[in-house]
Amino acid sequence: MSSRILITGGAGFIGSHLSEKLLAEGNEVICVDNFFTGSKSNIEHLLGHPRFEVLRHDVTFPLYVEVDQIYNLACPASPVHYQHDPVQTTKTSVVGAINMLGLAKRLRIPILQASTSEVYGDPAVHPQTEEYWGNVNPIGPRSCYDEGKRAAETLFFDYRRQHDLSIKVIRIFNTYGPRMHPNDGRVVSNFIVQALRGEPITIYGDGSQTRSFCYVDDLVDGMVRLMNTPHEVTGPINVGNPGEFTMLELAQAVLEITGSSSSIEHRPLPQDDPKQRQPDISRARSELGWEPTVALAAGLQSTVDYFRRVLTE
Ligand SMILES: NC(=O)c1ccc[n+]([C@@H]2O[C@H](COP(=O)([O-])OP(=O)(O)OC[C@H]3O[C@@H](n4cnc5c(N)ncnc54)[C@H](O)[C@@H]3O)[C@@H](O)[C@H]2O)c1
Repeated sequence: MSSRILITGGAGFIGSHLSEKLLAEGNEVICVDNFFTGSKSNIEHLLGHPRFEVLRHDVTFPLYVEVDQIYNLACPASPVHYQHDPVQTTKTSVVGAINMLGLAKRLRIPILQASTSEVYGDPAVHPQTEEYWGNVNPIGPRSCYDEGKRAAETLFFDYRRQHDLSIKVIRIFNTYGPRMHPNDGRVVSNFIVQALRGEPITIYGDGSQTRSFCYVDDLVDGMVRLMNTPHEVTGPINVGNPGEFTMLELAQAVLEITGSSSSIEHRPLPQDDPKQRQPDISRARSELGWEPTVALAAGLQSTVDYFRRVLTE
């Protein structure tokens, strides 16, 4: 059955892919965005679509629309952007969650929160299961994001306990793909842009720290599956690709796919940078029947193709 679906942060990297998927499934999509990190170009191809609507709105202010489901994605996701105005970042996560939960409560509809692996901080267990409470610095430069997302999770679970709201919390691990921001300091976009420009690839530390990378199509598939689970399923559920790569391996893969002859340069590690991060996705497998399907080489190829186009435009 088709629904009318609100996506906050719908003009962002993930939100634009989610909009596409939900439209393709026959739904109506209302995309709400203040265009802080999102852009019209991300959703340009959807603007004429009869079932797609855009509202310029900041989620820290209340919103009243009639919808059947809410995906709450509004929040800058990369350190350069969320540290630009840290107070606004916490407000977006916390006040934004309160506003969207209030709307979901009034309409008695399910709401999904785009949470993050950053709630695990610099994890002391590896890989991270949903039971792990995390190791987060509450007062560091990343805290506006990490603690904002943790507080949002608290709010979601309290709305569940207090108001029996249908909540779905997804903990997203590093996701990449077309429409990532070219200059947001995230490792995949950084490496690809540097390689395509023939500039040195910068690795923080010795490059032995690992990350897992999930292709955006896999992620949005997991989000939609979680949204459509029964009332009892709340999450939190990790969604990410457990394939683990060191930064050096990623740099080498990017060099290979781009055919670039860029050199590799090492820089000091930033504060609070986690050494390892890898999702345990047993719960996503059992509760969502979800599994990542796009291998790093294939996902990098389409991301490189996208950046080639953007950089030549
Ligand atoms: N990309 C990842 O690897 C990743 C990992 C974990 C979690 N997430 C979460 O997924 C969501 C989407 O991330 P993304 O990578 O697409 O980032 P993004 O920055 O591309 O998208 C975020 C969107 O939210 C909008 N936004 C920010 N503040 C807002 C506000 N106050 N009101 C309305 N709109 C606002 C931005 O303009 C942007 O369009 C975020 O909540 C992020 O925390 C992303």
